[in-house]
Amino acid sequence: MAFGVDYRWLRWPGTGGPRIGYGADYNPEQWPRHVWDDDVAAMRAAGVNIVSLAIFSWARLQPGPGEFDFAWLDDIMDLLHRNGIAVDLATATASPPPWLTAAHPEILPVDRHGATIWPGARQHWRPTSPVFRAYALALVRAIAQRYRDHPALTAWHVSNELGCHNVYDFSDDAADAFRAWLRARYGDIDALNHAWGTAFWSQRYTDFGQILPPRQAASYPNPTQQLDFKRFSSDALREHLRAERDILRAVTPDVPVTTNFMVMGESSGMNYADWAGEVDFVANDHYVHPGPQALDELSFSANLTGNLAGGRPWFLMEHSTSAVNWQPVNLAKRDGELARDSLTHVAHGADAICFFQWRQSAAGAEKYHSAMLPHAGRDSDLFRAVTALGRTLSDLSGVAGTPRTPARAAILFDWESWWACEQDSHPTSRLRYKQEALDWYSAFLTLGIRVDVLPAAADFGGYDLVVAPILHLMPAALAERLRGYVDAGGHLVTTYFSGIVDEHDHIWLGGYPGALRDLLGVRVEEFGPLSDGEQVLLDTGAPATLWTDRITVTDPQVEVLATYRSGEYAGRPAITRRPVGAGSAGYVSTRLGATGLVDVLARFASAAGVGSELPEHLRGRVELAVRGQYRFLINRTDEPVPLTDLPGEPVVGPARTLPPRAVAVRAVPAAH
Ligand code: GAL
Repeated sequence: MAFGVDYRWLRWPGTGGPRIGYGADYNPEQWPRHVWDDDVAAMRAAGVNIVSLAIFSWARLQPGPGEFDFAWLDDIMDLLHRNGIAVDLATATASPPPWLTAAHPEILPVDRHGATIWPGARQHWRPTSPVFRAYALALVRAIAQRYRDHPALTAWHVSNELGCHNVYDFSDDAADAFRAWLRARYGDIDALNHAWGTAFWSQRYTDFGQILPPRQAASYPNPTQQLDFKRFSSDALREHLRAERDILRAVTPDVPVTTNFMVMGESSGMNYADWAGEVDFVANDHYVHPGPQALDELSFSANLTGNLAGGRPWFLMEHSTSAVNWQPVNLAKRDGELARDSLTHVAHGADAICFFQWRQSAAGAEKYHSAMLPHAGRDSDLFRAVTALGRTLSDLSGVAGTPRTPARAAILFDWESWWACEQDSHPTSRLRYKQEALDWYSAFLTLGIRVDVLPAAADFGGYDLVVAPILHLMPAALAERLRGYVDAGGHLVTTYFSGIVDEHDHIWLGGYPGALRDLLGVRVEEFGPLSDGEQVLLDTGAPATLWTDRITVTDPQVEVLATYRSGEYAGRPAITRRPVGAGSAGYVSTRLGATGLVDVLARFASAAGVGSELPEHLRGRVELAVRGQYRFLINRTDEPVPLTDLPGEPVVGPARTLPPRAVAVRAVPAAH
């Protein structure tokens, strides 16, 4: 991964060494001028030191073609700088203004049914529209030239959440670009016909010009066409990112460029493992999904983001101080959660904690979305919590710049497998890739074992234990890497529906899981998905759902760790482990869920010699994350937890008892 500009070179205005960034999206154009002075005073009171400006300002900055109005932005940039607040300046291209869409409706995206996505909300642009691209880049150039020497300019923020609403566009522009992308990928039409398996259903193409995006069809569109369209759509947005970035780099080579990812966002459409090397530092947005695994999911997102960044620090560009406005019911955060959620991101490598947004809007679609400065104003518990967090982050300045400390276990996460395993016309439509990965993560947390969530392309050779949940799409090279890992003494565990297809979504033949059959020492002739509500038991008593496999063990060395006690496959193996030299290859053929996986993981981890670094009484109750000498202890429970038998000096948080939902940070000298 090539990072052009080290994040530590961020040009913080004023003096001082590295510090944790603290701030928000700031939308001053929603407010009269006099409010800006109050804003900046309140930012100072809260300890804010960075804001993202101009994210949705296109209509205000460019009232018409070729006409720019920068006066208001000059004013607020100057005001922020006078107050020691750095600016992560957006390129303002996220939401095209009405004059542009009125003049050029051909930039509007089209859905799979051929319906236009009309203006009226935001992000109504085709990633592949040459017209949109030309207008957007002209704006980027104008902004870059205007602010290239402004002392508040600290980083560039390309667009906003690329792909949040427009990742899949089925327009004619998309069709043209898709054809060009396919030509580059396959070279000739025969190669495409082979990859797409077009002998099926009379789909054979004789020319690239006949190819369309997978628009609404009479039945299931060709699966490889669907998969390639997902790849193409991610790449098309990445091209847009590159196009904006290249202008910014040309004008200001020493100002780092980022864009805010949505690593665990609503859409799986952006393959961030492919994007991370395009930015100078990784930035991510995360919003809590209430439910029993809410905190685990937050931690998972932060962990994966930190590993997309190659272990280096990253920015949390957005999260919420309290409720959002876009869930069916928008729950307020409970006491302690604002700080705990923020510090969990810091624990996994975030060097900035920012929110959407600074001042809660009085109008517009997000007026019920929380902010740092709520409708109630400064005299509010929320603003007091925001201010307290500002002090805590300032106390953590020493952490800024410290990379994550790798764990000894890893979970592999792979966007292509995610896309492929959840496609239509499969053995079950109920399979959820992210949920399976998250369940394994929760099991690690329950055991108190640190784990890194890694993109599958990352180097996992140094880990003692690698879990690869539903690693469904397996090019030969990936299967080879996994084999090499096990041969070298690594301990691999994989699950149902892994190693099933190659990069073209073609089945590895000869019995499942074709790509891993020999490595695992098992063979499956037929899948046994379970109906909704159906569950079978393992001989361990654990209930299993969603999926079963009719396993035959093919290598006498294989140990059967659990068998099915009930269901069609009663008496057959459910969980296996094949020792390979000093390593092993394990297989879990069913869905056990976050609780059911705990015992299974404990066995695999102990065989791999991987254990918890926490004293026994803290395991499961506290999450441990490590950045160099700093150990973050995150209370996962609603109960106080005694912090006994721990090395190190308290940096932040209590020394003796961790209150519910609280975080303590201790510094442990290198000798420990
Ligand atoms: C993000 C977006 C922000 C705001 C926020 C609300 O997806 O980037 O502009 O809409 O969600 O949660």
